Amino acid sequence: MATAMRTDLCGTLRAEHEGTTVTVCGWVDRRREHGEHLAFIDLRDYTGIVQAVVDGNHDMRVEYVARITGTVAARPADTANPDLPTGEIELRDCEVEILSIAEPPPFPMDERTGVDETIRLRHRYVDMRKARMQRNLRTRAKVNSAVRGAMEEQGFVEIETPMLIASTPEGARDFVVPSRQKPGNFYALPQSPQIFKQLCMVGGIDRYYQIARCMRDEDLRADRQFEFMQLDAEASFVTQEDVFEFISHAVREATEAVTGERPGEIPHMTWNDAMERFGSDKPDTRFGMELVNLTDLFAETEFNAFKAERIMGIRLEGGAELSRNKLDDLTDMVKRWGGKGLVWMKVEDDKSLNSPVAKFCSESELTGIVERLEAEPGDICFLVADRLRRTQHLLGLLRVELGRPPVTEGGFNFLWVVDFPLFEEINEDGKPIPLHHPFTMPHPDDVDLLNTAEGEELLEVRSQSYDLVLNGWELGSGSVRIHRSDIQSRIFEMLGIGAEEAQLKFGFLLDAFKYGAPPHAGFAFGLDRLTALLAGEENIREVIAFPKTQSGGDPLTQAPTPVADAHLEELGLRVLPPAE
Ligand code: AMO
Ligand code: AMP
Repeated sequence: MATAMRTDLCGTLRAEHEGTTVTVCGWVDRRREHGEHLAFIDLRDYTGIVQAVVDGNHDMRVEYVARITGTVAARPADTANPDLPTGEIELRDCEVEILSIAEPPPFPMDERTGVDETIRLRHRYVDMRKARMQRNLRTRAKVNSAVRGAMEEQGFVEIETPMLIASTPEGARDFVVPSRQKPGNFYALPQSPQIFKQLCMVGGIDRYYQIARCMRDEDLRADRQFEFMQLDAEASFVTQEDVFEFISHAVREATEAVTGERPGEIPHMTWNDAMERFGSDKPDTRFGMELVNLTDLFAETEFNAFKAERIMGIRLEGGAELSRNKLDDLTDMVKRWGGKGLVWMKVEDDKSLNSPVAKFCSESELTGIVERLEAEPGDICFLVADRLRRTQHLLGLLRVELGRPPVTEGGFNFLWVVDFPLFEEINEDGKPIPLHHPFTMPHPDDVDLLNTAEGEELLEVRSQSYDLVLNGWELGSGSVRIHRSDIQSRIFEMLGIGAEEAQLKFGFLLDAFKYGAPPHAGFAFGLDRLTALLAGEENIREVIAFPKTQSGGDPLTQAPTPVADAHLEELGLRVLPPAE
């Protein structure tokens, strides 16, 4: 790392360098006066801090950029700092050159003081100097590099796909770009390279990958930005098992590159099991608290709230301590999530159940709950009754609310969730809505069912689509694609997409398939999400150099901003006054 300007990096100097003369460059982290004529300067670069004893007459303030040449010397034993890697030494007899002066930083530079995120983003270039962002951005680079290496090793070819395209079928809102040469027409920014990678398969590329920027106009959250990066891949003449191999290799390599430890084989779980055991298609398997089916216990119940399609429960160990207020909050939360209510039952020393609704339940119902949930004194049981999917969903959310460990604990639990349903729901017109996208191949064992099923039965049809989950976050999705036009037409017909509409929306893909489409399958996972979890961050903004805020703005550049009228005119656009 030596350059014409420096010989060493600040944080790398040690006792073994004693006696050598070095030149380091960086930012002034701290200044302390030492007697009348000397000052201690902590100089910082991305590797850490080194202390230099300099002439106190230098005007060197915090965040000034300086170059210091000095001799590495042992600190007197009583002044050594065991908390600092360079704490045994300091630079003496220093020659100082100030390279840039600086205004006082917009916020304290220590790692302990919390700083409002908007102010951090407004001055991201200063925020980035801190150890947290330095670590996170370097972790991100390691992840990208490991993933790239893993894909290339497996014969994947990097291909860049365009940013100005026609709409892609990912289901979010498109960001659009007006065309100057064809006023009134718009490009869409890609929500993913989905269609292009399938075209690459028709084009005989065999194995494609890209570290792809994707754009989706959706509500932002901790794990969502408008623009984000995917490791996007597609391969020909493969089954879903092959895709699991390729992708598992890439994420295991990335994890090892960051943590130094290689994760084991990634387990598989069917979508049905995930819903039944965890109430989620992205189960966080770092902790238990699995859902337990109690429906049969209540087959003849007198309790009206429990006359439902499905009754399930979860148990929180030691949860009997929860206050009435907390329990009311949890009940409100379940209602906000769409539930009718929440039953709680505290387990007493004699294993009887203390609950406002215990009086509506029979003795056998109550003992059944304790047995099924393996409840012990001091625990609390939560029960929900509703339609099957809603019961699972509500308890799945409650389980995470009550049990999810912090992001930095419990290791990295990757999980393949397989056999997703082909359809998510049946709409008002009785048409099924695809869960992934309309090019997803049905499960080979369910093709007959697909041809005979009607209405709600269609929700039982499984697909060859799969997700990769990490610690309760959906890391990525993929599927085996339909490459046969007869199956594709049948699916379009079921979805209520007529031949004309299909041609209009996806005509270029369907046309391409007429010229010889290989069987193919693929996957994409979020690099922001993988990096955040590996870096121990709860929010992907912490691993993105220049992210947008929750409300979609960029405090640094002020985007989005209005454009000049002349520019609008050129584009054939007029802005409407804001809606009332
Ligand atoms: P999907 O839409 O599931 O699949 O996206 C794949 C992965 O991309 C990440 N991701 C996001 N990350 C941050 N911010 C967002 N707004 C955002 N949206 C998605 C997630 C997600 O799992 N073309 C298909 C893949 C395929 O079938 O091959 C696709 O894009 O980690
Ligand atoms: P109610 O009969 O609506 O007064 O509800 C009695 C108790 O049962 C309240 O604590 C509700 O929160 C709870 N409850 C009502 N409906 C359900 C349900 N479907 N699942 C779980 N708990 C419920």
